Amino acid sequence: MSSDKAFYLTTPIYYVNDAPHIGHAYTTVAGDVLTRWHRQRSESVWFLTGTDEHGQKVMRTAQANGTHPQEWADRLVESAWLPVLDTIDAANDDFIRTTQPRHTERVQRFLQRLKDAGDIYEGSYEGPYCVGCEEFKLPGDLLDGEGEFAGQKCCPVHSKPVETVSETNWFFRLSAYGDVLIKHYEDNPGAVRPQSAYNEVMSFLKTGLQDLSISRSTFDWGIPVPWDPSQVVYVWFDALLNYATAVGLDDPAGSEGAEKFANTWPADVHLVGKDILRFHAVIWPAMLMAAEVALPKCVYAHGWLLVGGEKMSKSKLTGIAPSQIVDHFGSDAFRYYFLKAIQFGQDGSFSWEDMSARYTADLANGLGNLASRSAAMVGKYCDGILPAPGDDTEAETHLHDLLKKTVETADAAVLELDFAAGINAVKEFIDAVNLYVTNQEPWKVAKSEDAESVARLHTILYTIADCLRAVAVMYHPVMPKATAELWSQLGAAAGLGDLAAQKVQDSAEWRVLPVGSIITKGEGLFPRLAEEPVA
Ligand code: MSP
Repeated sequence: MSSDKAFYLTTPIYYVNDAPHIGHAYTTVAGDVLTRWHRQRSESVWFLTGTDEHGQKVMRTAQANGTHPQEWADRLVESAWLPVLDTIDAANDDFIRTTQPRHTERVQRFLQRLKDAGDIYEGSYEGPYCVGCEEFKLPGDLLDGEGEFAGQKCCPVHSKPVETVSETNWFFRLSAYGDVLIKHYEDNPGAVRPQSAYNEVMSFLKTGLQDLSISRSTFDWGIPVPWDPSQVVYVWFDALLNYATAVGLDDPAGSEGAEKFANTWPADVHLVGKDILRFHAVIWPAMLMAAEVALPKCVYAHGWLLVGGEKMSKSKLTGIAPSQIVDHFGSDAFRYYFLKAIQFGQDGSFSWEDMSARYTADLANGLGNLASRSAAMVGKYCDGILPAPGDDTEAETHLHDLLKKTVETADAAVLELDFAAGINAVKEFIDAVNLYVTNQEPWKVAKSEDAESVARLHTILYTIADCLRAVAVMYHPVMPKATAELWSQLGAAAGLGDLAAQKVQDSAEWRVLPVGSIITKGEGLFPRLAEEPVA
């Protein structure tokens, strides 16, 4: 491994059978906040997302729309999956599509390698398959159908009948990896998180693994099996490999791909929803072990956004498009809300009322109001020029101590993917600064013109602005746009440079914002909301 190995984070690659809903955006936002945070610790970072374009699900949707799957995928990527990254303000470094040659060629090479190593053999498969999950199911996984599906066995995720697959396919010797995987996870308990996900994977592994059919012969929308073009690679076997093909898996020594791979692999975090945990924590590491490639450091399974107690989904017509929320609240509020309101790793629900309430309380009245009050006072009392502070009193020392604690807490929490705790620590600091303003009553201090009062006023105004400087740095990964606006209102770029270049772990330093910075009032960071949207 090269010495400047990047922090490498991936999201799942999304099926292009439909446009994204906020459940998909949720994973990408979490990945974006975490990678921006690592970047602001001056680490080198690689953030990958992309689309999963093969398989029956996409093929059937394309057919139902009277088009070829490739054309359908192109259309959905261009019109929906790439634009949503802008909508939610994601700063990914790469976007992989599984129909790209850089992927398909490396998948074929990988498959051949496993075949040569004796891990792939021909066999026949008969059993239930859910096209919605693109997954071979075990009879015990299924539920009895109700209503129009009475008498049929249904997928518990999609509540639709499964199909029976009966084919001669190529099989991967997954069963050979059960014990080594158990050992691996015993030795690396942080490799599957949170704990509930770890427990689920361990108990699944202990029931024993069956070999996995990794090709399909009854349709052709997939990557041809290199030694048997009458079959295409099973969509999950193809899809999981994206994490490694995107960074040059198995490229020849000395090539650009090989260098990239050395600088990124193994992935530090694969972010996944809990529904796709087993693919990532069982099949994927077994594939890598078979090819003698290093295993990812952590698979982190987050919960679901629920509607009426069920996973939000387009197929159940409960999907909300990210733009519906972002158009109303803005991308910053979207990112803030979902990561603060739902404990990462657990399920959560979204409601307009809850989001409106938090927007108003935390953002408009909390941070937004503090920033505008600060700018207004520096404008009124100091002509918009940040004054030099005098000596700290107990009140400032208290804030500085709290800031040190806040940075420590937020940094540790975000690195553990406890976004809610990280964001909350900063919110509490903002509350404390608002309280400081209320208690110090700078508007009263400003009434006396003696030197002591003027010095005191300057200390208070400086302290508020410098606290806002620290908040801008810590919140930048969460709310890139509003904090950039705040940075500009603080006139901070002139003396401190780009906001994104400020280190989060140094943000507790005191009296950093240069005296003399030009403070402007500008636009409100979080404008009052228009009337309620039609939900
Ligand atoms: N294509 C596969 C992943 C392959 S990764 C090698 C897939 N795609 S998906 O589009 O169906 O889902 C992608 C991600 O979105 C999953 O992590 C899934 O958990 C997440 N979500 C889909 N609906 C969701 C919610 N309602 N709530 C939270 N996340 C959800 O699976």
